[in-house]
Amino acid sequence: MRILVTGGAGFIASHIVDTLVEDGHEVTVVDDLSNGRSDRVNPQARVHQVDIADSDGLRDVFDREKPDVVNHHAAQTSVRHSMSGPEIDARVNIIGTINVLQNCVAHGVKRLVFASSGAVYSEPQYIPMDEDHPIAPKSAYGLSKYTAEGYIRLYADAYGLRHTVFRYGNVFGPRQDPGGEAGVVAIFAEQLLNEIQPTIFGDGTKTRDYVFVEDIARANLMATIGSSGNDTLNLARGVEVSDFEVFDAVRRAIGTTVEPLYSDKRPGEPDRSSLDCSRAEQVLGWTPQTTFSDGVDQVVAHIRLRQG
Ligand SMILES: NC(=O)c1ccc[n+]([C@@H]2O[C@H](COP(=O)([O-])OP(=O)(O)OC[C@H]3O[C@@H](n4cnc5c(N)ncnc54)[C@H](O)[C@@H]3O)[C@@H](O)[C@H]2O)c1
Repeated sequence: MRILVTGGAGFIASHIVDTLVEDGHEVTVVDDLSNGRSDRVNPQARVHQVDIADSDGLRDVFDREKPDVVNHHAAQTSVRHSMSGPEIDARVNIIGTINVLQNCVAHGVKRLVFASSGAVYSEPQYIPMDEDHPIAPKSAYGLSKYTAEGYIRLYADAYGLRHTVFRYGNVFGPRQDPGGEAGVVAIFAEQLLNEIQPTIFGDGTKTRDYVFVEDIARANLMATIGSSGNDTLNLARGVEVSDFEVFDAVRRAIGTTVEPLYSDKRPGEPDRSSLDCSRAEQVLGWTPQTTFSDGVDQVVAHIRLRQG
């Protein structure tokens, strides 16, 4: 199949590109390289440096590449930046998604796979949260993802666009940017390997649901080749891991006994989060294969290799 991957030079979608290429597909990447790196992209994929909010530029790529399937991962991904510049977040995550959708319809794309987020849900009312859990995003980022989901459903109703919307938990793995705000495994690993004492915000009991990036890439492949309906599916492990447990796993993988520093909890962060992924298992036959500690080992090995 001819597959166009937006954001394919980024952390998650560069792994998806690898998986799609390995499965024998012809892959094209659209990325403005604002947060991506072309050296992450599989050499068998073609790269177009284009902003998804640039409608002429994106139309040219679709005209040339004529994709069968579009995998849409390009986004402004920082929660902090979404709050300080909600209009920039909306331009990429909402207007950019509308551009992608317009091109999908105009070019007869057979399926769209979209990266949404567990950030669309309200403060947890039960754990793990399933796809029917109340929605009430706490950030402009979460709102922009949910708005994009709404446009996808509108285009499905109006034009029959087939789609899979994935709501990810906290994705981690090799190539995650340790300079970012979300990749706490990569941040702790990079700091500990450089003998910097990591800081935990809060008392260490805050939980998140971590899922390894290669499990996410496999789910994207399954949705691309094995789906026929329109689905919204959580992807995580359904397991809560506390901040201290993350720190401890990274510390063990590196082989150090350093203790963390503690600082004030950051505002607006829920105390707990975990996603029920049984619908992804029913619909796609997907279950996560990588344990948290195996994933942490791979992150540490990757950073060690990079540092030489
Ligand atoms: N990392 C997570 O835990 C997580 C959780 C939930 C959802 N997601 C979603 O998964 C997707 C990938 O996230 P990631 O962690 O790999 O982030 P990332 O920043 O590494 O990847 C995003 C990519 O999009 C590109 N991009 C940004 N703006 C663009 C634009 N206007 N035009 C074209 N390309 C543009 C960036 O250059 C980057 O390569 C995003 O949609 C994100 O919202 C990620």
